[in-house]
Amino acid sequence: MKFFVDTADLAEIRDLADSGLVDGVTTNPSLIAKSGRNMLDVIAEICDVVPGPVSAEVTATDFETMMAEADVLSAIAKNVTIKVPLTPAGLKTCKALRERDIMVNVTLCFSAAQAVLAAKAGASFISPFVGRLDDMGLRGIDLIEDIVEIYAQYDNFETEVLVASIRGPAHVVESAMAGAHVVTLPPNVLRQLYKHPLTDNGLAAFLKDWEATGQSILEQANDRKNAAE
Ligand code: G3P
Repeated sequence: MKFFVDTADLAEIRDLADSGLVDGVTTNPSLIAKSGRNMLDVIAEICDVVPGPVSAEVTATDFETMMAEADVLSAIAKNVTIKVPLTPAGLKTCKALRERDIMVNVTLCFSAAQAVLAAKAGASFISPFVGRLDDMGLRGIDLIEDIVEIYAQYDNFETEVLVASIRGPAHVVESAMAGAHVVTLPPNVLRQLYKHPLTDNGLAAFLKDWEATGQSILEQANDRKNAAE
């Protein structure tokens, strides 16, 4: 399972990329607005930090202007993935860009029918928004399970399921159990994945017992090295 980080905050991306667990980044117009920075600069900087797919979303709603914006965005770096909304113009743009071997992430997916359209348009990634479905009282993961099952029926569907709008670790586990290829995580959710009180308590107990021995691994190695000389 690939972990993407869902933010345009460079400080967060740098910090989390240092973990070695970040495979890509997703942004959207709201996340760019939240960064308070020039979009082309932010996308370029993200692409320098993370070599994996970096989603940059077009803001036009018509095919011709989407294509013009995609030309600008894809010229920034080879790992830019063009994000398009799941609309007729967005999927027409997806198909045209894929014919030019440009990665495309089709976003704002809320139904299995939409996901079939995105796969037929050759999308590299489909982004179903589980959190926003949960917010409506639905079980967003049901959609993930349906999409994974549908895509598995067709060898020519190469679209990866990229679960978005993630609200917490449970969505990550449920997405993994459903067989999703990618989750895109708000920075705080990625950090939450590490946490368990029994891990903290167990480590504290190990270190307390070790400290009581008065031993040091490095000192023992140094003693052995000196004795051998
Ligand atoms: O990548 C899409 C994601 O940013 C949307 O999340 O929390 O606004 O539903 P949210």
